[in-house]
Amino acid sequence: MPTTCTLTPACAISPRALLAGMLAALLPGLAAAQFTLAPLPYPSHALEPHIDTMTMEIHHGRHHAAYVNNLNAQIKQYPELATMSLEDMQKQISRFNMAVRNNGGGHYNHDLFWNIMAPEGQRGQPGEALLADIVKTFGSLADMKKRFDQAALGRFGSGWAWLIVTPDKKLAITSTPNQDNPLMDLPDVQRGTPILGLDVWEHAYYLKYQNKRGEYATNWWNVVNWNEVTRRYDAAMK
Ligand SMILES: [Fe+2]
Repeated sequence: MPTTCTLTPACAISPRALLAGMLAALLPGLAAAQFTLAPLPYPSHALEPHIDTMTMEIHHGRHHAAYVNNLNAQIKQYPELATMSLEDMQKQISRFNMAVRNNGGGHYNHDLFWNIMAPEGQRGQPGEALLADIVKTFGSLADMKKRFDQAALGRFGSGWAWLIVTPDKKLAITSTPNQDNPLMDLPDVQRGTPILGLDVWEHAYYLKYQNKRGEYATNWWNVVNWNEVTRRYDAAMK
């Protein structure tokens, strides 16, 4: 037989209400885990010798993880983030504070970065249409790489170099500071869909290359996943 208790305030709460209260207290925390750190799409040593294992482990497991955690912490202030795709967030980033811009950008940029690199044997070559567009726009693949590396070296401090498809479906090379990217609706950003991006933060190369950003950029071309870059190009041109 159930007993009725009305002697103390605690007794006035039914077990079901108590459970609901506990769930309500827990759910905001669960909902805050909207964004997650995907595992690297290959082992952390797969890009050796061009990008060393320890750099990959720290870069992904600490730096990228911190962007994800810090972004999730912003969901309390901006509940709409919980149902927003990462890409949509970038396109309306001007609505949000600097924490969302830096960490949301950091999450998007690093997701892209891991996937536009690949282990040996899985890197492929630029697809036919992409290569023809590169030649038409920059003169040759080598000229495009040279222009891209100039953007990477010319970025003062931390940031990214990008190959993008502009809104009028043209290839362009640009760079952004910090964790900004070409999807962001910001006044100083050349807008477009990124199909290739190079992280030129020191955390991306300092252990192996120290201050030699140019050497890092040159060697990085060896690990570019042209299959994925081509897929992104084809999708952006549709
Ligand atoms: Fe990074």
